[in-house]
Amino acid sequence: TRDKMPPLKGDVLVHAGGDQEGTPVKVSELGEKLVRAWPQGKDEEGKPLIRKGDPNNILVLYRFPKGQIVAPTNLEATIDGETVAYSDVCTHAGCSVGDSDTGVGQMKCPCHSGQYDPKQGCKVIGGPPPRPLAQLPITLDGDNIVVKDFFLQMPYPYIHEAEWEEFK
Ligand code: FES
Repeated sequence: TRDKMPPLKGDVLVHAGGDQEGTPVKVSELGEKLVRAWPQGKDEEGKPLIRKGDPNNILVLYRFPKGQIVAPTNLEATIDGETVAYSDVCTHAGCSVGDSDTGVGQMKCPCHSGQYDPKQGCKVIGGPPPRPLAQLPITLDGDNIVVKDFFLQMPYPYIHEAEWEEFK
């Protein structure tokens, strides 16, 4: 069903928690602490539909000062080289990754202490995860942050290899 489909091109990113849950995330609300988001697409009648039917659709957004986001992040898939989106599902065993308790602007998984650097394409900087968190290309549409393309890498394998080949 559509609420379980992964983030697709044109989806608007909306807050996945807190007071603003369900409202579009604005770039001005972002910083070096993560903001979790859901992709919002449309239902069969064209009405807005948040794709939260699959818990693996949870995303994370950060905004860093210009120049701090570097390779292997795909800069063309960021907004102005400052705002970046990733899958928030740990590539080790699928937990939701949070902010690091030791390094500002870094991420740490609560399950087995996997660590990622969102300024460097969410590459693994500690612990057992086998690969980076998948980067999701985003762009601006007015004030809204929208999905520009499918994940650049295969996210935690809730998407099967065969489906991934189709999405790519
Ligand atoms: Fe994240 Fe194991 S699930 S480190």
